[in-house]
Amino acid sequence: MPRILIVDDEPTILNLLNKILTGQGYDTTPASNGEKALQLLQTESFDLMISDINMTPVNGMELLKKASESYANMGVIMLTAYGTVGTAVEAMKKGAFDYITKPFKLDELVLTVQRALEYHNALTENKTLKARLEHQDQLEGIVAESAGMRKVCDMVERVAPTNATVLVYGESGTGKELVARALHRYSPRKDKTFMAVNCAALPAALMESEMFGHVKGAFTGASSTKIGLFETAHGGTLFLDEISSMPLDIQSKLLRVLQDKKIRKVGGSDHTEVDVRIIAASNEKLENLIEQGKFREDLYYRLSVISIDIPPLRSRPEDILPLIDHTLRREIAPNTEPPLLDRETQEILDNYNWPGNVRELENAIQHALTFVQNGVITKETLPAKIVDAVEEGIRSGVITSRREQFKGKSLKAFLHDKEKEFLKRTIENMSGDKEKAAEELGISLATLYRKMPQNLKN
Ligand SMILES: Nc1ncnc2c1ncn2[C@@H]1O[C@H](COP(=O)(O)OP(=O)(O)OP(=O)(O)O)[C@@H](O)[C@H]1O
Ligand SMILES: [Mg+2]
Repeated sequence: MPRILIVDDEPTILNLLNKILTGQGYDTTPASNGEKALQLLQTESFDLMISDINMTPVNGMELLKKASESYANMGVIMLTAYGTVGTAVEAMKKGAFDYITKPFKLDELVLTVQRALEYHNALTENKTLKARLEHQDQLEGIVAESAGMRKVCDMVERVAPTNATVLVYGESGTGKELVARALHRYSPRKDKTFMAVNCAALPAALMESEMFGHVKGAFTGASSTKIGLFETAHGGTLFLDEISSMPLDIQSKLLRVLQDKKIRKVGGSDHTEVDVRIIAASNEKLENLIEQGKFREDLYYRLSVISIDIPPLRSRPEDILPLIDHTLRREIAPNTEPPLLDRETQEILDNYNWPGNVRELENAIQHALTFVQNGVITKETLPAKIVDAVEEGIRSGVITSRREQFKGKSLKAFLHDKEKEFLKRTIENMSGDKEKAAEELGISLATLYRKMPQNLKN
C-alpha cells in the first residue's frame, strides 16, 4: 500500500486530505508542520509527500529540497493558495511532480496523487520513459544533439505526465508543434484527442464558436448546434498555436474556461464541464504584448505555468547534420540507404544561419532530393539562396568556414577557439546570464570570466 506523508499547518486542510486519501486506500501519515515532517522523513520512508508551500519555520520548498537531495524516489506534490502559483512553478522546476491549488477539487487531488505514484513507481522500477530515454538519449522523433535541445527534451519528459499548462516559445520553424505533440504523446492523455488550432488563421468573428461551439440559431447561419474544439478535445490536449493573435475578448473567455473548467456555447445558457490540457505556442514573447495592451496579463500567468524555450537552429549547430540525416531518412523509401552529402555541401549547410530554422532545413533537403543525381547531394542541388548566402558570408569574412578554421593552426589553438565559441554560445543561450552559464558548464564564475572572450566581458 503506498505510503503518503501529508504536511500542512492548517488543521482543517490536513484533516480533509487525510480523510480523502485514507478513503482511497492509502496509508497516510499527517504532519502538522514542516519540522515534524522532517523528523518523520528521517525515520520512515514514504512513496509520496504532499506538502503545503507556506509554512513556518520549515516551509514546503525546504522540504522539497530535502526530499530531492535525500529521497529521490519519493514523489512530491505541492499545495498552494490560488495566486501564488509562481512559487509552485518554481517547485516543479526543482523537482516537484505537480502542484494543486487550494481550494482543490476531490477528483483533481485523487488523479494527481495517482499519477504521481505511478510516475515515481515507474522511476524506481527503472521502467519509466526516463530510463528508456536516457538509454536512447532523446524523445522519439525529436533530434536533440545540442545541449539546448536536450534541455527542451528534459522539460518535455518532466512535464508531459502532469496536467500543467505549457507555453512553448520559439522562432518560426523551430519545432513548437513537434514539442506540443510530444507533450501529448508522453502524457496519460495520449489515447485521447490532440487538437491543434491556429489562432492566427481563424477569423476573429469565428473564433469563439470554433473554440466553444454554438447552439442552433445563435447567429445568422447557425443552422445547427456545433460542438467546439474544447468539447472535441475533452480528455485530451488542445494546442493553441500562435496564441499571441487571439483577440482580447476571446482571451477573457478562455481565461474563464481555464478557471472554471466549463464552457458555454455561443448563444447557449448551459455550462458543460471539460477536461482539457492546454498547450500554447508563440513566436513572440507575450510579456512584450502585455506591455502593449494586446495580451491579458492574468491569462498569461495561467498559461505560462511552465514555459519551454526552443532555441533557434543557428545557436545549436550540433543539431544541423543530425537533422539532415533524420530528414533524409524520413523522406526516402523504407529500407533504402539515403544519399550522401559531399564535403562542400555539408560545409555549406553547417555554416548557413537558418533564419527559417528546421522547417527551412527540411525544405532545403527536399529541394536537394529533387535534383540529386548518382546518390550524392552536391551544392548544385541546394536552393541557390543558401549557397549564395554562405559563399557571400565566407567572402566578406562574416563566416569562417570550418575547413578554414583548421588551416595552419595548431590543435591547441584550434581547441582554444572552439572553447571560446562554446562559452559564447552558452552565455547567449542563458540570455547573457553568466552565473547560469557557469552553472550549465559546470565551472565556477571566476573560471568562466577567465576563459571568456574579451568582447563578452562587460
Ligand atoms: N528537433 C527536431 N527534430 C526533428 N524534427 C524537427 C525538430 N524540430 C523541428 N522539426 C521538424 O521541423 C518542422 C517544423 O516544426 P514545427 O512545425 O513543429 O515548427 P513550429 O515552431 O511550429 O513552426 P511555425 O512557427 O512555423 O508554426 C516539422 O516538420 C518538424 O517535424
Ligand atoms: Mg507551428
